[in-house]
Amino acid sequence: MNPPIPDGLPELLQDFTVEVLRCKPPNLVEFAATYFHELREKSKTGGLCSAESGASVAPISDEETGENGQVDDEEEEFKPPPSFYRGRRASVSAEPFQPTEDDVDEKVIHQKTDEQRERLRTSVKNIFLFKTLDAEQLHEVLDAMFERKVTEGEHVIDQGDDGDNFYVVDSGVYDILVSIGGQEPKNMGCYDNTGSFGELALMYNTPRAATITARTDGCLWALDRAIFRRIVLQSAFKKRRVYETFLQSVPMLQSLDPYERMTLADALESKKFQPGDCIIRQGDEADAFYLVENGTVRISRTDTNDASREVELTTVSRGGYFGELALVTHKQRAANVYAQDEVTCAVLDVSAFERLLGPCMEIMKRNFDHYEQQLIDLFGSTMDVTDPR
Ligand code: CMP
Repeated sequence: MNPPIPDGLPELLQDFTVEVLRCKPPNLVEFAATYFHELREKSKTGGLCSAESGASVAPISDEETGENGQVDDEEEEFKPPPSFYRGRRASVSAEPFQPTEDDVDEKVIHQKTDEQRERLRTSVKNIFLFKTLDAEQLHEVLDAMFERKVTEGEHVIDQGDDGDNFYVVDSGVYDILVSIGGQEPKNMGCYDNTGSFGELALMYNTPRAATITARTDGCLWALDRAIFRRIVLQSAFKKRRVYETFLQSVPMLQSLDPYERMTLADALESKKFQPGDCIIRQGDEADAFYLVENGTVRISRTDTNDASREVELTTVSRGGYFGELALVTHKQRAANVYAQDEVTCAVLDVSAFERLLGPCMEIMKRNFDHYEQQLIDLFGSTMDVTDPR
């Protein structure tokens, strides 16, 4: 029987061979020594994603984050999160991103008809990565985007390739396929006439982490790598980084995979509240979901027998959440939520909640029985707060 081939060996040798063919070194032994030395240094510092790595996103150390987990260092290295490159190989040229490395200053304008411009505006409306851009930046990005028509079956992106463009979906359905350790690609979901993809390779200077194929004919808006990095990257990267550690620590989000948590970070917005502030008022329409980043909130409900009195239900602290019930049941807010001390919440609007937290729905719903029981204990009836309208 043949001895088993160690994990990662074929990819390692393949990468080395590619580099030899590319560089045509006069002294192969010398080249090999330098190559493997550099490879070891890079994998030590996290500059490379090891082929076997299925590890979760690298946590940010305390020194890297300041108050509320904010990233302090403007010039920090953009280290790739190890879990996103699970494919064929880790490119040896995959240096951690340096913000100034391939900056381009010239504005790029791809002329568009009024009809195209209108379609583009509609397509980018819900792109979380663009939400942090100011009006001028957004204008520049829209000018620089260009249309790419796609036919059914076409590979828009191949896992392992170098990144060229970031894409926003205008129309069409696109499958996301990820191959782990050279195995058959697994379907991870799809973009159905909405969404964006292709940011990871541009953000971290890593090979493409997934293959994207067109299930139907369609149309995409593409943004060149250099412009993506100059205008979109800084703020988007910081946001992902700021929320990365926090989101990893939220028990309810454990069922999301690292990529889902990352896209959740794009959609979150931090809001601060002073002690005593009313964050949610019972009876109001629901428009957002809240994760507690810092501080404690107290939750109370108007006494059914005495409307001037509020009955305390519970408190929620860092890592906990609230505001999901009315979003799921489509009813009015079932309770009041007040800041007990200085509170920071990561807030998700209702459409992002529905798009991004689907995988957590069962966990949230499990808690609804607990809400019902609590109301029975306190008021003698459930008041049907958890029944969907
Ligand atoms: P990028 O690696 O540049 O190219 C492939 C894209 O697929 C990737 O960026 C993401 O935008 C997108 N993608 C969607 N789902 C996943 C996933 N589960 N893992 C990695 N990439 C994903």
